[in-house]
Amino acid sequence: MAPIKRKIIFVDDEPNVLQGLRRMLRSMRAKWDMTFAEGPQAALEILKSMPHDVIVSDMRMPGMDGAQLLREVKTHYPTMVRIILSGQSEQEKILRAIGPTHRYLSKPCDPDVIKLTIESSCNLRESIQDPILLKVISDTETLPSLPGIYQEIMSAMEDETSSLKSIGTILSRDMAMTAKVLHVANSAFYGQHHHVSSAEQAVALLGVDTMRALVLQAHIFSTFDWEKLQKFSIEKIWNHSITSASFARMIAAEETTDQWVIEDSFASGLLHDIGKLVLATNFPSQYEEVLTLAQTENIEDWEAEKTILNTTHMAIGAHLLDLWGLPDSILEALAFHHHPGTVGHHSFTPLTAVHIADTLDKKGELSTDKSKEGTVDFPYLESLGLTERIHQWSAV
Ligand SMILES: [Fe+2]
Ligand SMILES: [Fe+2]
Repeated sequence: MAPIKRKIIFVDDEPNVLQGLRRMLRSMRAKWDMTFAEGPQAALEILKSMPHDVIVSDMRMPGMDGAQLLREVKTHYPTMVRIILSGQSEQEKILRAIGPTHRYLSKPCDPDVIKLTIESSCNLRESIQDPILLKVISDTETLPSLPGIYQEIMSAMEDETSSLKSIGTILSRDMAMTAKVLHVANSAFYGQHHHVSSAEQAVALLGVDTMRALVLQAHIFSTFDWEKLQKFSIEKIWNHSITSASFARMIAAEETTDQWVIEDSFASGLLHDIGKLVLATNFPSQYEEVLTLAQTENIEDWEAEKTILNTTHMAIGAHLLDLWGLPDSILEALAFHHHPGTVGHHSFTPLTAVHIADTLDKKGELSTDKSKEGTVDFPYLESLGLTERIHQWSAV
């Protein structure tokens, strides 16, 4: 049986641009069913009769711009992947599009970048079987922050004298804010040839004015009434996230001089349990059941999540941040931090640092007893030739 082709719709008001895309992506015809819509109204008409998997839209179009079009698409076809393909000069418009847009590509765009972006977001979509979870991931525009830090960033943004450094420092302490600012900064609009994995770097790249607009006008950060959840403690998750981040950075610095690995280890430590925020805020009552089950059965949170929600915080976190275009090394750490041995390669990466940091913070120690359950993954560390390092890491 022939594999099902992915359906991609490209929207632009200029026929020449559509022609160019058609030519450039001809080699994908075996894998993709491509539709080229001349303008937003034409696109909406086509979508009414034929559902698509991905929309790639221009920003500046008469009548309805790309942001409005993607907002419509989000409302009516919530699980479609939404991509903006636009010129770098339209920063102001990007601010408007930040909500409904999953990924940004800049014109002119390398065909390989378009292919990779579309393929990776489709793989992701297909790997989530549950339509409710898929909708939650696709729908998520912001993640809730710790209320105190949320207030802190709002005050800093309203204060004209706030420096980039002080803003970066606030953001780097909060997983939700870091994830969102990395989403924006990793967009191709900012012309990066390498990825951005720290909040400080992201803020420096965006600048104070853009940051202020993103926070105060585009509302990229949010908070949540955590009182609704009795067992879920945002403070506990928050503390675990920053402790794991700093442990992961220290462990990475012991093992490598590669600054990327060290920075990515910090970000991965900070973000590794972000899927718990997504699950707890979207499914509050089930997540309370997860925590009760984990406690009464004395099992790991991810095991209880599997039983109650049929997914895990690792899968949800990695999928969401993949859709947001975060670097692969961070996604790998998110997806595999409880089972690093299943990753399929044997080298020290941010995943290694996060696995150790997470265990160290949760258990308070790293046991060197191979038979002891619930500590570090021994066979994995053995495959990396790192078991001798456990004593050293315990002292970070
Ligand atoms: Fe975890
Ligand atoms: Fe954790």
